[in-house]
Amino acid sequence: MADIVAGIATSHVPAIGVAIDQGRTGETYWQPLFAGFEASRQWMADLKPDVAIVVYNDHATAFSMDVIPTFALGCAAEYKPADEGWGARPVPVVQGHPELAWHIAQSVILDEFDLTIVNRMEVDHGLTVPLSLLFGQPEAWPCPVIPLAVNVVQYPPPTGNRCLALGRAIRRAVQSFDRDLKVVIFGTGGMSHQLQGQRAGLINQDFDTRFLDLIVSDPAAAAAIPHVDYLREAGSEGIELVMWLVMRGALSPTVRQVHRHYHVPASNTAVGHLILESQ
Ligand code: DHB
Ligand code: FE
Repeated sequence: MADIVAGIATSHVPAIGVAIDQGRTGETYWQPLFAGFEASRQWMADLKPDVAIVVYNDHATAFSMDVIPTFALGCAAEYKPADEGWGARPVPVVQGHPELAWHIAQSVILDEFDLTIVNRMEVDHGLTVPLSLLFGQPEAWPCPVIPLAVNVVQYPPPTGNRCLALGRAIRRAVQSFDRDLKVVIFGTGGMSHQLQGQRAGLINQDFDTRFLDLIVSDPAAAAAIPHVDYLREAGSEGIELVMWLVMRGALSPTVRQVHRHYHVPASNTAVGHLILESQ
């Protein structure tokens, strides 16, 4: 049987990718941020997952105002890193896992979650920065990746509750896949940040700390946070945090927190990171 053994939450700030790609992680500005991911890379190297599901948001790279899928599951064999304006990141092409991805699509759609299926897509910093943080700079990514893109860019994004429920459906889907696979799931984005308008630069450590606590021990309470509270408390881009709820729903009801890291700032963002193991 396949199983989702662990979840990783992490911010996906594009400047983190630039710092890694340009060999600047030891600089005074960046060192405290990256220090909080060293143990995580070792943990991941020891775990050796067979597949990673990465819940992330596309930032108007693969999608645009033309087509806005709420939940888009990647069923392709590979995904090229996108050129977001400065050339594609120098990271490996992401290999997919079409067999498991199609199984998840069938299982969750018949479970009444109407996903969009994507067979061609380039992936932006939302997906590649978390891979770099957890896998480092290998010649090839150490496992296949199934992208799940969530719309948090154009209102209305899905509710936290819907994200948690989708995570639970993904758990049922993976556990009904008839092959021994050790699967991990990433929830990316957040924490508090606002990139535009009068409150650009907003950071709210109290909200972020409460959210980290709730994700670990009371995900239903985190799922009940309404959109307007994310906007008020965590800034206009804080809504990315609903994606952490998909990750959390895909784990066992109680989890073991293996690692927690919080650092302000990276670019305009409060960086939060958790590693949670299913029980
Ligand atoms: C930043 C953060 C993000 O999550 C993002 O998608 C783009 C930029 C930032 O802090 O610069
Ligand atoms: Fe983002």
